[in-house]
Amino acid sequence: MAGELLLLAVVILAHLLLLSCSSFAPIFLSCGSPSAINLSGDNPPRVFTPDDAYLLTSSDSQTAAFPNSSPLPIYSTARIFTSQASYRFAVEPNAFYILRLHFLPFPSTAAARFNVSALNRFLLLSSFSPSSAAVTIKEFFIWVDTTPLLLTFSPASTPATTTAFINALELLSSPANLIEGIQPLYVTPSQSTPVTNFSPLATETVYRINVGGPRITPANDTLWRTWEPDDAFLFNGLIFSLKNSTSGRIEYPMVNGLTSKIAPDMVYSTARTINAAPVSNLQSFDFNLTWSFDVPPGFQYLVRMHFCNCWFPSPKSFFFRVYLGGLTASTDLNPGKEMVPSYVDFIVDSPDSGPLNLSIGPAGKSIPQNALLNGVEIMKLNNSFLSLVGPFGLFESGGSHGNKHLLEILLLSILGGLVLLTLLVLTTAFFIRRRQQRRLPEQKEKAPSWSNFKTENSVLTATSKSTELTQNNSSSARLNLGLQIPFADVITATRNFDENLMVGSGGFGKVYAGVLPDGTKVAVKRGMPGYKQGFPEFQTEIVVLSRIRHRHLVSLIGYCDEQSEMILVYEYMEKGTLRNHLYGSDLPCLSWKQRLEICIGAARGLHYLHTGYSQSIIHRDLKSTNILLGEKFVAKVSDFGLSRLGPSVGETHVSTVVKGTFGYFDPEYFKIQKLTEKSDVYSFGVVLFEVLCARPAIRDNVNLAELALHWQRKGKLEKIVDPKLEGDVNENSLRKFGETAAKCLADYGVDRPSIGDVLWNLEYALQLQETQLSREPFEDSAILDESSQNLVAVPVRRAPAATEIDMEVNAATESPAAAARSLPETSEITSRSVFSQLAIDDGR
Ligand SMILES: *[C@@H]1O[C@H](CO)[C@@H](O)[C@H](O)[C@H]1NC(C)=O
Ligand SMILES: *[C@@H]1O[C@H](CO)[C@@H](O)[C@H](O)[C@H]1NC(C)=O
Ligand SMILES: *[C@@H]1O[C@H](CO)[C@@H](O)[C@H](O)[C@H]1NC(C)=O
Ligand SMILES: *[C@@H]1O[C@H](CO)[C@@H](O)[C@H](O)[C@H]1NC(C)=O
Ligand SMILES: *[C@@H]1O[C@H](CO)[C@@H](O)[C@H](O)[C@H]1NC(C)=O
Ligand SMILES: *[C@@H]1O[C@H](CO)[C@@H](O)[C@H](O)[C@H]1NC(C)=O
Ligand SMILES: *[C@@H]1O[C@H](CO)[C@@H](O)[C@H](O)[C@H]1NC(C)=O
Repeated sequence: MAGELLLLAVVILAHLLLLSCSSFAPIFLSCGSPSAINLSGDNPPRVFTPDDAYLLTSSDSQTAAFPNSSPLPIYSTARIFTSQASYRFAVEPNAFYILRLHFLPFPSTAAARFNVSALNRFLLLSSFSPSSAAVTIKEFFIWVDTTPLLLTFSPASTPATTTAFINALELLSSPANLIEGIQPLYVTPSQSTPVTNFSPLATETVYRINVGGPRITPANDTLWRTWEPDDAFLFNGLIFSLKNSTSGRIEYPMVNGLTSKIAPDMVYSTARTINAAPVSNLQSFDFNLTWSFDVPPGFQYLVRMHFCNCWFPSPKSFFFRVYLGGLTASTDLNPGKEMVPSYVDFIVDSPDSGPLNLSIGPAGKSIPQNALLNGVEIMKLNNSFLSLVGPFGLFESGGSHGNKHLLEILLLSILGGLVLLTLLVLTTAFFIRRRQQRRLPEQKEKAPSWSNFKTENSVLTATSKSTELTQNNSSSARLNLGLQIPFADVITATRNFDENLMVGSGGFGKVYAGVLPDGTKVAVKRGMPGYKQGFPEFQTEIVVLSRIRHRHLVSLIGYCDEQSEMILVYEYMEKGTLRNHLYGSDLPCLSWKQRLEICIGAARGLHYLHTGYSQSIIHRDLKSTNILLGEKFVAKVSDFGLSRLGPSVGETHVSTVVKGTFGYFDPEYFKIQKLTEKSDVYSFGVVLFEVLCARPAIRDNVNLAELALHWQRKGKLEKIVDPKLEGDVNENSLRKFGETAAKCLADYGVDRPSIGDVLWNLEYALQLQETQLSREPFEDSAILDESSQNLVAVPVRRAPAATEIDMEVNAATESPAAAARSLPETSEITSRSVFSQLAIDDGR
């Protein structure tokens, strides 16, 4: 009976102990402050009290006040230690505690450098020198197994004696399930395996990110945490993702101990999702959204990812892949029920070099094909030295328990007669130490602070991006997201958008010539707010061009979306638009053979667009200003801002809003808004006649397509042939060309040839031209004679063979304008002097 009562008493006592564990009243200290500071903006409010009561009396310390320009009153005073000193907190043992240390140096503490340790065991900070640029908050989770909790500050004594200081301190018991008893998955190259007895004794929070949302300040977090926005960490540009937010109610589940203490509503109500809009028709859309975090090497990290699906309607079939440090963490992560938060913990080793990447991407059979992330926390785990700073700890031996004194006493007592045993102990200790040292790479950490991390990170990613760029710029055919160019490089390349470098302006914005730091000549297209084309076109162009590479398609070298800029960087096209070589400029006239070759090149590019990729791409805005000429008049199709993925197998067309340029419209598309590859064929037919007749698609209200068809039907196409071509065109070549172009302009798409047929016919037309010429290579007059029944006679200008050489010479020397003119969307040319200037700068 008595025994039972005793048992009951013990049980009750144990319960009381457990309860009191979680009822530890948080301690907030404003160090060095004479009175309490009430941060009443917090919810719940924090009252920071003076720290005197918690200092060990033996401590040699002083206070300092520096009230000016402190972001919060708690930073206007500090406790300064000139020698080793400790705080002492009576805590309930066997629990995790959250410890936050706040630092903002005054002028008098600017040179401070010190170690901070807890429980005489954990090394939290070493040779730490807080930045004076901003407040540094260091947060730790510490397993406390004895009371009191001692927090020790040790000013560095080498090379010179300095001080230690602290402005404010927070100590709270860690809520249930926040870190204790979690079951993370360990991510390894082969698979992710559950960690059975996860027992970190100390962790340091290195990143706490509210993905897709704003900064969350302590005022909006039940545990007074700070969550930073993710923008600075997003690796692959902001444009491939969407920020989503909801005002709906987040429903914390009753199970799993998931409460708003894990993360506040504001974390779960915002997320980033993959922006698949420009490629929504593509079934095989495969893409990673990646964040990069700089983490000190040589540690393991606990990565907690928070999810709450508030945007996708099919919670059961929605799952996605997660990668950490380039390894697969999960192939089918399901974020759970709608509006219900969840989180997953992973443990990952720090990468050997470079940042820790976190990527999410759609999984094969998921509906929808997307992924989402609401929040991330990255915590550094103590190493075997019980250290959070490097491969060393408080104890030279690296042992995890005990202290030096004990070891000394032990050794002394044994020394009396047990020399042999001593030797044995020493040898063992030596070997243990050797093994532990070998386990960790010899790398020094330089005490990074929260704010330092961000700046270092952005610099680092910027440089790694530009290296990536030079490596990738012309090879990769898959969706290439290493194309981001730092805004600073664009500024340098265009001399801060020097008007003298401007070579045109179009629907999208202004176009500048420039030279990248690596010497690549580029055309920089800078989107301007208020221009016709906008963000969707910008995205489409990047997505399309980063997927496809072809000799006859203008390649995208990179893009920049920093500072809400929309900048596209293309390969430089020496000779500008096809249109400028046809009419409206004083550039030398193109020979018929050159024109045919240009048309063939453009047709090849278009053919590749229609057939070369797994799903056809419809250009939608083909015109003579979107065909650019490079060196040696190689034609390349450009400006994919309006392009659409074509119908996939089984579908016959894609319905869209009519877009494009007047005069080039497919009438069928215009009428019934059915978009097929044949719409491009129609526009290409208009371009072919433009090339033949050297006149715009629409002039004086006359539609070139109609005009050309009219004369073609009458068999008198020569009436409208560019007079400058007189004597240059072989009759058979002309006939073939006319027929082909006319077929492209058929009213109905089904009656038009495919671009492949057009290409074949154009090549045939070239052959006809060449055959004729090679038969009578130097007899231009003979050609003229032959065709003179049809062509209006004008004086022969020069022999075709010589033409090309002439053109090259002209382009290179006589007409710098031609050389400098370039570039996508160069529809309006601004000033002649621009080009002369450019040519000089380019130093051809
Ligand atoms: C702190 O401020 C809040 C709101 O002004 C007030 O309710 C609370 O009593 C204050 N606490 C202390 C200790 O001054
Ligand atoms: C600070 O920590 C480092 C690394 O353990 C140690 O070498 C140094 O002696 C410590 N400084 C003080 C003053 O304790
Ligand atoms: C954050 O907290 C402050 C103060 O409690 C409040 O005024 C503000 O509306 C909160 N912000 C959000 C987004 O909830
Ligand atoms: C996310 O937000 C964007 C706009 O910000 C919206 O276009 C998109 O449809 C949203 N995604 C979902 C899944 O709701
Ligand atoms: C996503 O990232 C992982 C890990 O870095 C990589 O293995 C995978 O190929 C990536 N997927 C895509 C589509 O880039
Ligand atoms: C991080 O991801 C980016 C983009 O996928 C990649 O270029 C980079 O090499 C990755 N870094 C590391 C350390 O894996
Ligand atoms: C942290 O320290 C404990 C005690 O020495 C150890 O068991 C644990 O493995 C350490 N954590 C890591 C990640 O090394």
